[in-house]
Amino acid sequence: MGDVRKIKIGIIGGSGFDDPTLFENQIEKEVVTPFGRPSDVLIEGQIKRVQCVLLARHGRKHQLQPSDVNYRANIWALKQVGCTHILATTATGSLVEEYRPGDLVILDDFIDRTWGRKCTFYDNTEGSPRGVCHLPMRPAYCERARAALYSAAKSRGYSCHETGTAVVIQGPRFSSRAESLVHRQWGGHLVNMTTVPEVVLAKEAGLSYAAVALVTDYDCWRENEKSVSVSEVLATFSKNVKKAADVIVDAVQILGADTDLQYLDDHQELVKSAIMLKD
Ligand code: ADE
Repeated sequence: MGDVRKIKIGIIGGSGFDDPTLFENQIEKEVVTPFGRPSDVLIEGQIKRVQCVLLARHGRKHQLQPSDVNYRANIWALKQVGCTHILATTATGSLVEEYRPGDLVILDDFIDRTWGRKCTFYDNTEGSPRGVCHLPMRPAYCERARAALYSAAKSRGYSCHETGTAVVIQGPRFSSRAESLVHRQWGGHLVNMTTVPEVVLAKEAGLSYAAVALVTDYDCWRENEKSVSVSEVLATFSKNVKKAADVIVDAVQILGADTDLQYLDDHQELVKSAIMLKD
């Protein structure tokens, strides 16, 4: 007998899921967490019988800049409504020639260049869990969910890279050329502004989390080329976002069909083993 637990998949980003025939029986839910309010209402529904919850990372009107997103509330809210998984989409610049605008990348690592963001739930404030959490970050993402995303992208025939390290900058400005060249030297393949602390908090929450990055530009490291611009990012994003949404829809089905859910327990056990309590 397989595992009969019900899974529920949070989808952060959420662009490309506007089709009500794809995302059925939608209801909006306002949620408040011990860490404040998430970026917007949660939209619960089903994708081909699998329970899913959509959340717009920057709010549905894109009103929040990357360092103002309440990442803790976003992750906690999804956990609070019963999510076992989170699949995220993110627009990213490319730091290497082979990762071309329009390509998809299943992120597998990050370099954190953000500052001042709240990046743990275990901070001794009221309502927070007790202890200090020293969570290992290798692997940073859930390998099972990553595999589902990659297999979905391959089956669709999309150009998709199986791994990629994202350098996460504070924003809201883009990198300078010197910074972009340094990010390349560090071994980064991609650059964005939101992967940290989202991936860290999802792992702290004991959830299965993976992200599909959509490459929108070449940042500003290439010789004789203009720097990235908002219009370029938006144009490439809207032209290709359906690919990322398709991959998530198919990955939801793959994860929903899984009968061995031991990996979900493993995520929770890892967090337990990472917490130091004083008494
Ligand atoms: N998001 C999309 N493109 C980006 C870039 N070049 N730098 C940071 N974030 C991005």
